Amino acid sequence: MSKKLIVANWKCNPLTLNESIKIFKAINSKYKNPTKAEVVICPPNIFLKNLLALKTKLKIGAQNCFWEEKGAYTGEVSAVMLRNMGCQFVIIGHSERRKINKETNEEINKKIIVALKNKLIPILCIGENREEREHELTFDVLEKQIKEGIANLEKTEIAKIVFAYEPIWSIGSGNSADPEQIKEVKNFIIDLLSKKIGKENISKIKILYGGSVNGENTRAYFTEAEMNGVLVGGASLKPEEFAKIIGAAK
Ligand code: PGA
Repeated sequence: MSKKLIVANWKCNPLTLNESIKIFKAINSKYKNPTKAEVVICPPNIFLKNLLALKTKLKIGAQNCFWEEKGAYTGEVSAVMLRNMGCQFVIIGHSERRKINKETNEEINKKIIVALKNKLIPILCIGENREEREHELTFDVLEKQIKEGIANLEKTEIAKIVFAYEPIWSIGSGNSADPEQIKEVKNFIIDLLSKKIGKENISKIKILYGGSVNGENTRAYFTEAEMNGVLVGGASLKPEEFAKIIGAAK
């Protein structure tokens, strides 16, 4: 089985640098299976420099970037800055940003383009809300998010993107999705992308599941749902619990 990609999305937590270093070091000390799991921590930008300086085996990513590289964009952070600092990944289009910051697929597409240009691996978040699922619109929503999110990109560029399927109703709710449902979505994404990038590139695509992932349910996402990894919010701030998630990659 290939290496699993386990991504921690700390969101707007923790509140102090000391606490972020404490959690980061605790995760690193419990991370014993680097040949089975690649672990990426995405902290708030303000902690990046200090965590990168610790030079551990944990990789580091950002939770967002701006679509322009530089200029008069108050409050924004550039993909060039993230790369220069040592980040290797960037989460793009998280549902919280789509909702609260009103991010559109078009903006998300521009962010993916600038991330790839700067050799950051984009983790593109996609997923339907509860109402869309109840109205059987899941696949329509995903198709639109994917097609518009990867517009204007070459096949080989698309193959570098990590797709994180996070049904919105499962995020932070304790209501994790059923692995069978997730496998169905994975197959749908693979079919859709195969048409775009061809069979020769499809084996490179990584698809993650996110939404109330914990130490107990992770293994089923790897085995039953055949996911390439997980994107973890709440549990990634608890080193004991996160270690169990990492340990599920065996
Ligand atoms: P959760 O968040 O693990 O707390 O559900 C996942 C995410 O929002 O990426």
